[in-house]
Amino acid sequence: MKTQVIVAHPHLENSKINKAWMERLKQEENMTVHDLYGAYPTGRIDKEQEQTRLLAHERVVFQFPLYWYSSPSLLKEWQDVVLEYGWAYGAKGDKLHGKTFMLAISTGGPAPAYQAGGYNQYSISELTKPFQAMANLTGMKFRPSFVLHGVHPLTDEQIQESAEDLVRTLQD
Ligand SMILES: Cc1cc2nc3c(=O)[nH]c(=O)nc-3n(C[C@H](O)[C@H](O)[C@H](O)COP(=O)(O)O)c2cc1C
Repeated sequence: MKTQVIVAHPHLENSKINKAWMERLKQEENMTVHDLYGAYPTGRIDKEQEQTRLLAHERVVFQFPLYWYSSPSLLKEWQDVVLEYGWAYGAKGDKLHGKTFMLAISTGGPAPAYQAGGYNQYSISELTKPFQAMANLTGMKFRPSFVLHGVHPLTDEQIQESAEDLVRTLQD
């Protein structure tokens, strides 16, 4: 399955997790890694180019560090610009129908924080409902998210292991 991984990280130069995931995913055949902040340093998204890229892949992955319980902001801008009425949704908006959609997220907070009673109160499934709703409205099949919690103390080896886990998940 041809997969496009859209990476949204505003400071990849300081990233440990998302950079490691990106570099590992680039080695895979049938996988296109798209660095959104690198492609659009001014923040002006090329709608046509992004729509063409989407059409060329059967699976779409949004990969990002959790920022304020959501994605970094350029990914929201990408949604607003690229997923137009009549193209991605609406009466004739069927271009994404049947594709598979997945999230790959790293979080600073540890796993126990992401549940009722934990210090963040809500699970990642709850916090990512807008992405699930986006997939639903555009006719994409939402797959369970790949989530790595509590990333700050991880060793390079553990980070590399998580990259292998992500590759395995995307091979299914
Ligand atoms: C602006 C900002 C907001 C953040 N918000 C959250 C958050 O809501 N929940 C959380 O668990 N971690 C949060 N973090 C921590 C990041 O998720 C964490 O640093 C990131 O996943 C590490 O990945 P990286 O090595 O690719 O940068 C935030 C970090 C920044 C800089």
